[in-house]
Amino acid sequence: MNCSDLIIIGAGPGGYKAAVYAAKHGLKVTIFEDVNVGGTCLNVGCIPTKTYVHSKDFKEAVERQPQVVEALRSGVETLLSHPNITLIREKGVFINANTVSGVTAPNIIVATGSSAKMLPIPGADGQNVGSSTELLGLKELPKRLCIIGAGVIGMEFASVFQKFGSEVTVVEYLKECLPMVDSDIAKRLRKLLEKRGITFYMGAGVKSIDGSTVLFEQKGKEVAVEADYILMATGRKPNVSPDFANAGFEYDERKGIAVDEHFRTLNGQSSMVNGQCFAIGDVNGRQMLAHAAEMQGIHVVNRILGIEDKIRFDVMPAAIFTEPEAACVGPTEDQLKEQGVPFECHKSFYRANGKALAMNETEGMVKLCCEPEEGKLLSAHVFGAHAADIVQEVTAYITLGATLRQLRETVHIHPTLSEVLIEVN
Ligand code: NAI
Repeated sequence: MNCSDLIIIGAGPGGYKAAVYAAKHGLKVTIFEDVNVGGTCLNVGCIPTKTYVHSKDFKEAVERQPQVVEALRSGVETLLSHPNITLIREKGVFINANTVSGVTAPNIIVATGSSAKMLPIPGADGQNVGSSTELLGLKELPKRLCIIGAGVIGMEFASVFQKFGSEVTVVEYLKECLPMVDSDIAKRLRKLLEKRGITFYMGAGVKSIDGSTVLFEQKGKEVAVEADYILMATGRKPNVSPDFANAGFEYDERKGIAVDEHFRTLNGQSSMVNGQCFAIGDVNGRQMLAHAAEMQGIHVVNRILGIEDKIRFDVMPAAIFTEPEAACVGPTEDQLKEQGVPFECHKSFYRANGKALAMNETEGMVKLCCEPEEGKLLSAHVFGAHAADIVQEVTAYITLGATLRQLRETVHIHPTLSEVLIEVN
């Protein structure tokens, strides 16, 4: 029997970063991966989609995608060639609470990720229907693309395929796109994409697919949309496996592996010998974001090593890479109202920012929510060019408990887009 200090199942951003961090701190790590290192994010998610966003046409995107992915994948392979890491290219299967596919360790991290949730509707198994993974594999641009779901994946693909020249239709069950985003920003983004020619059917639940026809109901009326390709972007589900039962922890097909605030699995711990089992990233269903998985992995390794850290998992920035971007950190105005938290909202607009004008990127706005008295920053919601980078700055302030006054008293380079932050009313 092989022994390690730590077994990790899955080499996505959660798993491989945890492996490298643990190895650098002297732990002997065995990591299992049965597909490609880098996981969904690197191979069929964040990285390929951003390559599409930053390509001028579909042909260039299709050509560049494998090059970018391959370059990054070999970088991850190099990181995993650390002398303290053993990479096993097969599925890691739980034999018991401390043993995975013949390897035993006191500490185990499950980082198996998630996969696309396909709607259980008639016709969903059609040849021209697929998830974002299949859409990224197309070699020919679909003339007409119908996207089911106006969540993060739906909006990012709608934006980029319209740019490439596809005729894009989005069908969304809810009244507005991006339910977790500030409603003002979600509406502005949808209106902008509509102006560019994307058709949105909101409040419309898809019932079935018949060959190239997507059938749904809107305001009591049956509607049919014709498409050459149909993207199902209706959420993702955690990758759980029947052998998890051998580990003894609590999990379910829909919600994934149940964990506590330190990402320790629930229940199964007592069946382990001198160690702990954790689940990080999409498989615990907390926040399906690559950077959330990475930070959860670092936190877990710190726990194993007995290192205290102050990672603020309640301050989790997120971005939607449409053109322009939308990004946020902290609760929306609606959520603050629902929670009865008193707050003030401060706004500014890209059109008054010198750099935005020079870049011809005047479409955009910033909203900062603060506590009324002290002005402590609670959240930021940004729509416009480089929104993700602007939100990143506010994330640092919120993490450190800073106020709007402290943000305003910080010298900002002129001319930069981030000056929109100090220009808020
Ligand atoms: P999502 O949960 O964000 O959106 C799915 C949408 O589909 C919802 O708005 C829902 O109302 C709609 N829907 C469900 N059933 C429907 C039906 N029958 N007819 C019409 N509409 C229907 O899921 P999405 O976009 O697939 O993303 C999955 C996960 O991946 C999310 O957790 C997301 O945060 C993450 N992700 C994050 C990215 C980023 O941070 N930039 C990029 C891509 C994915």
